[in-house]
Amino acid sequence: MSLEHVRVVAERGPRSGFPVIVAVHSTALGQAIGGCRLSVYADWRDGLEDALRLSAAMTAKAALAGLPNGGGKTVVALPAGVTPDRRAVLHDVADVIESLGGDYATGPDVGTGPDDMVTIGERTPYVFCRGYDSSPGTAAGVLAALRAVVADRFGSHDLAGRSFAVLGVGRVGGHVLRLLAEAGARVVASDVDPSRRSVADSFGAAWTDPHGCLTAEVDVLVPAALGGVLTGETVPELRCAAVAGPANNQLDRPGTAALLHERGILWAPDVVVSAGGIIHAIGTELHRETPDRVAARIGGIGDTLTRILDAARETSSTPAEAAARLAGWLVDYPAKIA
Ligand code: PHE
Repeated sequence: MSLEHVRVVAERGPRSGFPVIVAVHSTALGQAIGGCRLSVYADWRDGLEDALRLSAAMTAKAALAGLPNGGGKTVVALPAGVTPDRRAVLHDVADVIESLGGDYATGPDVGTGPDDMVTIGERTPYVFCRGYDSSPGTAAGVLAALRAVVADRFGSHDLAGRSFAVLGVGRVGGHVLRLLAEAGARVVASDVDPSRRSVADSFGAAWTDPHGCLTAEVDVLVPAALGGVLTGETVPELRCAAVAGPANNQLDRPGTAALLHERGILWAPDVVVSAGGIIHAIGTELHRETPDRVAARIGGIGDTLTRILDAARETSSTPAEAAARLAGWLVDYPAKIA
């Protein structure tokens, strides 16, 4: 297979000693963007693999979000059982990003937050979300997507009375849970961290274990934590009508989209559903858009998803295939992006 990526840097962080991986997948539409992930991996090569896949997904995400950006990703592959010197790790990351001369800018992701972006910002300007949280923006985009999904399945955008299983109530999942509760939806939630139960309790949501949540009989399953939850093993167990959530790379492999399709379960491509954070960050920080304009753009995620679901039906393909086709077309014909 040929190398799709523009550039991939892997180095042993000179301060931290940990593998720092930055994958720049595409700069065809503009600066590559993508978060900085701090995660434990059995082998650093697994982190490299993750960076390669996640950065490619960011290219599709940015294009489908109508942003003049490409995709990239940073992964710091931590061994199990260490407490890293955060500052050292983040400065190692910052120096690699700075060495790319602006081809790539980072933001928060799994394992990092707004304070970490401030630390990265001490050594490079190519970082978004310094000191503010992008997760409310991501969650607002998820809600727009969920309205489009229930409209497609049940004929109305109304979330009231519909049922949802939110898998993971971290920063983004917690906001999604709150917004769903406020919209009058029925919610069951779970998290690998049992202390997160208080989030569910405070919004009147039911609580279960992660497997119970994954297999709950609900209208929509909302994966809001780590990727890879949809597999050849889990898809046969699902009891939902649709899956739509902000977790990146939900499918273990591309073929799993077909398994969902065969089971009659609508899968909303994660690259569309999860774009609210980047739309917010880029709109606010780079393009100086007003909050109303940014909110309207985030709401546009629902329209994009509806277009993709319609296109999938018309061409008898999966939503994943329809999204990939649209993303490819946008990357090849940048002038189409308004
Ligand atoms: N975690 C974000 C995503 O996957 C990354 C990001 C957020 C990048 C905000 C830039 C700004 O979309």
